[in-house]
Amino acid sequence: MCGIFGIITNQEISVGKIALEGIKRLEYRGYDSCGIVTQYSSKLYIKKDAGKIDEIHKKIKLDEFPNGAKLALAHTRWATHGAPTKLNSHPHVDCHNKIAVVHNGILENFIELKEELQSKGHNFISETDTEIIPHLIEDYMENDLDFKNAVAKAIQRCEGAYGVAICHADYPNTIIAVRKESPIVVGIEEGNTSYCASDIPAFLPYTRTCYLLDDDEMAVLKPGSVEFFDVKDSNVPKKKAIQKIEWNIDAAEKGGYEHFMLKEIYEEPSALRRTLKISKDILKTFAKILWSAKNIYITAAGTSFYASLAGKFIITKFLDKYIEAIECSEFQIQLGDALKEDSVIIAISQSGETIDLIEAIRWAKEKLKNRVKVLSITNVVGSTLTRYSDHVILTQAGPEIGVAATKTYCTQVLTLGLVALEIADLRKILPDNEIEKYYDALRSTPDIIEDFLNNDIEILKKIVKNLEKTHNFFFLARGISLATAKEGGLKLKEIACRFIEGYSAAHAKHGPISLVRKDFPIIFIAPPDETYDRLVGNVMEFKARGGKIISLVVKSDKTITDLSDITIRINQPANKYYNLFSPITFIPALQLLAYFYSVDVGLDPDQPQNLAKTVTVH
Ligand code: G6P
Repeated sequence: MCGIFGIITNQEISVGKIALEGIKRLEYRGYDSCGIVTQYSSKLYIKKDAGKIDEIHKKIKLDEFPNGAKLALAHTRWATHGAPTKLNSHPHVDCHNKIAVVHNGILENFIELKEELQSKGHNFISETDTEIIPHLIEDYMENDLDFKNAVAKAIQRCEGAYGVAICHADYPNTIIAVRKESPIVVGIEEGNTSYCASDIPAFLPYTRTCYLLDDDEMAVLKPGSVEFFDVKDSNVPKKKAIQKIEWNIDAAEKGGYEHFMLKEIYEEPSALRRTLKISKDILKTFAKILWSAKNIYITAAGTSFYASLAGKFIITKFLDKYIEAIECSEFQIQLGDALKEDSVIIAISQSGETIDLIEAIRWAKEKLKNRVKVLSITNVVGSTLTRYSDHVILTQAGPEIGVAATKTYCTQVLTLGLVALEIADLRKILPDNEIEKYYDALRSTPDIIEDFLNNDIEILKKIVKNLEKTHNFFFLARGISLATAKEGGLKLKEIACRFIEGYSAAHAKHGPISLVRKDFPIIFIAPPDETYDRLVGNVMEFKARGGKIISLVVKSDKTITDLSDITIRINQPANKYYNLFSPITFIPALQLLAYFYSVDVGLDPDQPQNLAKTVTVH
């Protein structure tokens, strides 16, 4: 995944500076190289290199371009085709340096197109798939098409996923943006300036008025205005609805925190409070569909998949049906013809753009048409996932910039909790006052997290200081807390670069326990639920082998506390209502543990190596 940004204006402003700020706000999407192009006096001016934006800016002053430039395109890259080098960085140009393109996505047929263009004499200098786009456009323009129609023709030849923005040295008043499966949003400051970007925060300091481009649509940006076309019918403008963004730029800036990740963990209480207000109607719709489904699958990737594991556990408490959780990359291959009519798929994705998830859903829809329903939970309005879904719940986490998902995980689990309680309501399987107790527990999750964040985090810093940094370790749990263990382990892998495994405490006896030596750290996730007594046995097994026992427990805990070297304590009642939602209230401790660990070993938690926030490649 990469980040793209474009600006075109009639104002006396520095487009280079704004483009630089724009890609800084998109750096979470990729950070191995970057570049900016501006147009002035029928020439393109390009600056690009490999490295992080700040490093490159120090070297070559990325924002300094000829005064009077009125448009700029910028790109921050997460390499797919071709190593992160200066030559492979975007923008890419045609043979005559007239057409510049920035691209997010992957072109699947680029090899055959490249051969075709090379045979016509086009000269390629990078290893990227992107470079074919300016050459294709050049080719069509040499055959007498104007810029817009040449872009439309060229794009129709491209297979794969793309969000692209394009400018031309001889068209000072135009930027063209096109999308298929990779997001493009357009922002407008009426009459003055227009923007396009991979994500809204990139232009949020300037405007909250935007349009979401759909697949196979093309936006032709002029200063302060835009026209939309279907790629296949580039002569007839089409109407699109304006979106007004509710949140402001503070939501997407660090606001005094050292890192986005830390800020976003501290935003969890407010994100949960907003998500608790999801409309009853949509929750009811989800509940009814799940109740009448023959088969139910839940699918996602990464952190969203672990939210699915927690959610499936919570929902099955109130629904007498098994929910199969399948990683989205395995969905088609594992289900194949076993996916039958009247199935329901719950699809979960922070970004709504993860390509493996989109493909899984698309495959299911193509296979069974209307006989399969897709219920999706995502944080991004208008994302690709929403277009393939029958019903959508939007979590209210607000923008999440840190690459490692934190607040969105909590809001996903909470949303699934709300759906579960709606099912309980509908099925009347519990007395009303019993259901109300579950609701009370769910509604208390923001307060419990707030209390922990305000009072109890010093212990996490102490644990990090005392951990032997060369050690790997385990997060062990049973039942619903397995999701917490896996997500906690994932956070440490992602941002602290340690091999930490979230594993079943019972299953760990069948192999992993052989790794345990004196002082090998094991973190047990231990809410006082129905698995607690057996977990005590597991704690003893690992302690007997010299393991250093760290436990995550409720404040009143006694037994596991006595067996532990260190405890992390969550201030919540010890009863089944609160236990059911412990995946929400226990996870901040593990997110913060990963955060402090990452900072302690000198890593940047916001920009973990090799990762991108949204993965739009297979
Ligand atoms: C990437 C990110 C993870 C995220 C996963 C799924 O791997 O690095 O943090 O959990 O994608 O993303 P989604 O947007 O579908 O939830």
